[in-house]
Amino acid sequence: MKLVIAMTGASGAIYTQRLLDNLDPAQHELHFIWTRHATEVADLELPGGLRVPDGVRRYEENGSMFVPFVSGSARFDAMVIIPASMGTIGRIANGSSDSTIARAADVFLKERRKLILVPRESPYNLIHLRNMTTLTEAGALILPASPGFYHRPQTIPQLVDGIIARVLDHLGIPHHLARRWQSPE
Ligand SMILES: Cc1cc2nc3c(=O)[nH]c(=O)nc-3n(C[C@H](O)[C@H](O)[C@H](O)COP(=O)(O)O)c2cc1C
Repeated sequence: MKLVIAMTGASGAIYTQRLLDNLDPAQHELHFIWTRHATEVADLELPGGLRVPDGVRRYEENGSMFVPFVSGSARFDAMVIIPASMGTIGRIANGSSDSTIARAADVFLKERRKLILVPRESPYNLIHLRNMTTLTEAGALILPASPGFYHRPQTIPQLVDGIIARVLDHLGIPHHLARRWQSPE
C-alpha cells in the first residue's frame, strides 16, 4: 500500500510510534509528515523523542505543496492522522488546505480515498463534535484514541496496540497485535 502517516500536536505520540513500528517499509510505501507541535509533544512524551524507522520517507515542513500526496493525480491508498489534534481536525473540516496535512486530507476526501483520523481530546466541545460530524459526512473515519480493556492489557504499549490494531484493520493490513473478541489466541 501507499500510505501517508501524519502526526499532529495532540497528546499520544506513542500511538504514532506504535503505528510506525508495526508497518513494514519493505511491504508498504510509507510517507511520514508531522507538525511543529507534534515534535514538541513527542519530545515531552517519548524518551528520546519519536524514532522514525529506516525506509520511511519523511517530510519536515508541514507547509510545502511540493510533496506527492497533495495532488489527486498521485495515487495513494490511505492517510492516517495519528494523533489528530482538534486544531488540525478543525482546519480539515473547514477545507482550509493551508498546510500540507490539511491539503492532503482534503485531497483524500475529494478523491474518495481512505482517511482515518485518531483524535485525542477530552472532553469534546460542540465545535469538536461538529467538525468530526462534518468529516464523517465527508467520508473520513473517526477512530478515537479510546483504548479498550477487554484484551486485558498489562503495559502501556499493549493498551495502545488495541487502537493500532483497529487502525491496521481499517487499512486492511494483517496483524497479531491484540486478541480478537472470542478468539482463543
Ligand atoms: C503537551 C501538549 C499536549 C496537547 N494535547 C492536546 C490534545 O490532546 N488534543 C488536542 O487537540 N490538542 C492538544 N494540544 C494542543 C495542540 O498542540 C495545539 O492546538 C496545536 O496548535 C495543534 O497544532 P497542529 O495540529 O498543527 O499540530 C497539546 C499541546 C501540548 C503542548
